[in-house]
Amino acid sequence: MKILVTGGLGFIGSHTVVELQNEGLEVVIIDDCSNADEKVLEGIQTITGKRPLFEKIDLRDKSMVESFFARHQDVVGVIHFAASKAVGESVVKPLLYYENNIGTLVYILQALSQKQRASFIFSSSCTVYGQADEMPITEDAPVKAAESPYGNTKQIGEEIIADTCKVTPSLNAIALRYFNPMGAHPSVEIGELPIGVPQNLVPFITQTGMGIREQLAVFGDDYPTEDGTCIRDYIHVVDLAKAHVVALQRLLQAKNEENYEVFNVGTGKGSSVLEVIQSFERVSGEKLNYKIVDRRVGDIVSAYANTKKANQVLGWKAESTLDEAMKSAWDWEKKVRKA
Ligand code: UD1
Repeated sequence: MKILVTGGLGFIGSHTVVELQNEGLEVVIIDDCSNADEKVLEGIQTITGKRPLFEKIDLRDKSMVESFFARHQDVVGVIHFAASKAVGESVVKPLLYYENNIGTLVYILQALSQKQRASFIFSSSCTVYGQADEMPITEDAPVKAAESPYGNTKQIGEEIIADTCKVTPSLNAIALRYFNPMGAHPSVEIGELPIGVPQNLVPFITQTGMGIREQLAVFGDDYPTEDGTCIRDYIHVVDLAKAHVVALQRLLQAKNEENYEVFNVGTGKGSSVLEVIQSFERVSGEKLNYKIVDRRVGDIVSAYANTKKANQVLGWKAESTLDEAMKSAWDWEKKVRKA
């Protein structure tokens, strides 16, 4: 039983490969290394004692996807992380995003549809909810018009999977809607490696703490929240990785009644930008240089998960606190910069 992890050298992918291997599953990674480094394989090997199989493939090449599945007939499940994820870039290069995020999804589903049985897990995002009307957000909350081509690829991706599952009983799929992943493996062998200036809050904070960035810009403190800054649900990447393993096991054991399901993956707790900064200051003992600037276009006020469905149906729960996740992010940043 082999599991294909596309984008398995990336941030969430690599942590998931570790958890899969810890459960004794055999993993083969596909990554085009456009936003990841082959050295990540060494980190995975150090943590788990096993180097996963790896093929450098661009999934936009349909013939390569077909030949991969022909060569690896024992692949019973796919966790599909490989995708582009920069919101701003997606606005400038929409077709790149539709090709990377939708084209590749179609090729993989085509290959899986040929199999007698196949399990599929899709990396979706809480971005599909937009600014939800009620907090915490349940999976029944309506999907709102996407703010960006990136967000649209997650919505369309979910629809493609749902439509395919309807006519393909042999295909068993779950979409995981991630809230805000952060942190690094406690071994600090793997973690987040943003290329260039980080767009996301936590890597920007840790890089500012290291002096790589001069100052964090906090995007707005006049939102209708307690301290005026936006609220998100920050989840430790190891907790998120473990959610993939239990979701996959559910599919492999055919415990699900519907062959397409959606789960929120968050902690259920909302934290403001200022609370995240305070967490950094607590765990690092450093003062963070930040200033309040204008709101960022497209930001929503608040998003945190109702995790009841994942807790009850998957038997999964996020274990780490914000401080624990922040400490791992900080330890990782310090290690990477020393290297
Ligand atoms: C962003 C994307 C989301 C995507 C996710 C992927 C936007 C609007 N949303 O989510 O679609 O799924 O990344 O990881 O881009 N912040 C600052 N200063 C910074 C960076 C962020 O104040 O330099 C604030 C933001 O305003 C926000 C919070 O920190 O309130 C989290 O931001 P970020 O890490 O970019 O995540 P999201 O915006 O939630």
